[in-house]
Amino acid sequence: MNTTFQTGLDYAKKLDSKDELHQYREDFFIQPGEIYMDGNSLGMASKAAVASIEKMIERWKKEGVQAWNDLYIYGEKISALMAPLVNATPQEVTITGSTTSDIHSALTTFYHPTEERYKILVDDLNFPTDRYAVDSIVELKGYSIEEAVKVVRSPDGEFIDEDAVIEAMEADVAVILLPTVLYRSAQIIDMKRLTEEAHKRGIIIGFDLCHAIGAIEIDFKEIQPDFAVWCTYKYLNGGLGSTAGLYINKKHFDKKPGLAGWFGNRNDTQFQLKHHFEPQPDASGWQIGSPAIFSMAGLEGSLQIFNQLGMKKIRENSLNKTAYLMYLIDQELADYGYSYGNSTDDRVRGGHVCLQHEEAYRIAAALRNNGVIPDFREPNVIRLAPIALYTSYEEINLVVQTLKKIVAEKIYEDYSNTRSSVV
Ligand SMILES: Cc1ncc(COP(=O)(O)O)c(C=O)c1O
Repeated sequence: MNTTFQTGLDYAKKLDSKDELHQYREDFFIQPGEIYMDGNSLGMASKAAVASIEKMIERWKKEGVQAWNDLYIYGEKISALMAPLVNATPQEVTITGSTTSDIHSALTTFYHPTEERYKILVDDLNFPTDRYAVDSIVELKGYSIEEAVKVVRSPDGEFIDEDAVIEAMEADVAVILLPTVLYRSAQIIDMKRLTEEAHKRGIIIGFDLCHAIGAIEIDFKEIQPDFAVWCTYKYLNGGLGSTAGLYINKKHFDKKPGLAGWFGNRNDTQFQLKHHFEPQPDASGWQIGSPAIFSMAGLEGSLQIFNQLGMKKIRENSLNKTAYLMYLIDQELADYGYSYGNSTDDRVRGGHVCLQHEEAYRIAAALRNNGVIPDFREPNVIRLAPIALYTSYEEINLVVQTLKKIVAEKIYEDYSNTRSSVV
């Protein structure tokens, strides 16, 4: 982590003037008087994403059903734009469903329990939807959650101990599902090491990349996991509820998708409408029903910037911005009860900073009323994501000044601690 920063707004402005990506802010709908720090939850709208959604609406208006003539394989176009972000072939990536439905799709494909191997290995820090999916899948197979879901406990409630995960890879484990970047502490899991260890033991392994995709570099040619899932509305700026990504390693193209549907059928026989399912011989076979075109269209625009710049540049920029934010927290906020719950080590820090404070909930509410959009995660975390493509150093500095003021002037005391549904 770079520790040669300085405090002060002039210094922040100097960093902006040297920031190679600073100009890309212009491509986003930055709202006047607002600092958006929640790109780890929902990415900002970009002009390119909105233009491609609008283009699709025009096509619907003008072409009606004839738009399907080429849009029935629109997913292939988006897969080709998406594949470089995980360094996979376009055939190994399909754009379909939601993260959660894709977990179901992958687990029904890969989880075939036997008397000896019948457990799914998970951790206790992953986003809950992954657990809900895993639990329901083992129950569908006739097991109880207690007997078939093996949970590796975090030693501190913040980080996953990879050695403990490896220790738990016993002969009873059939499949492993883990996060890549933890949604609270931003810890990056060593996918390569865990994949190698899983494969040595004959275990299938998959990852949830929701907080990793578009934030860190991912190389599936090197890692070779069996499957992966990710949402596209966070760092990829695909839009509210935009369609998810699913990676299926090409060595599994011969497998029958667990949840079959007519859009997974071979393109050349799909419209023959036979009752015998013939899956596409690649990841697109894991599509189920008609592609949600409007939910995919934003990606056609938004992914262009990622392809143009490449993840290396974006990652370096993000690391410097999170390092700068952590530096300011150390320098200016430590006396006000703030700390951060993520690593200073660039190798294991994702794209957001996990700011901690015992009054985090009320501080987050006060931030929102003072022109800063963060998000809050129980019990004491404010997630702040300085995004490479649209957050300036000046904004990061202003966020820190606002955080300081909210505690120094006890502004947070004007807010209620009663939790509301979306935070
Ligand atoms: C790690 C992780 N997985 C999954 C999800 C959400 O799943 P879905 O895209 O199906 O809503 C989130 C949402 O924040 C998440 O953080």
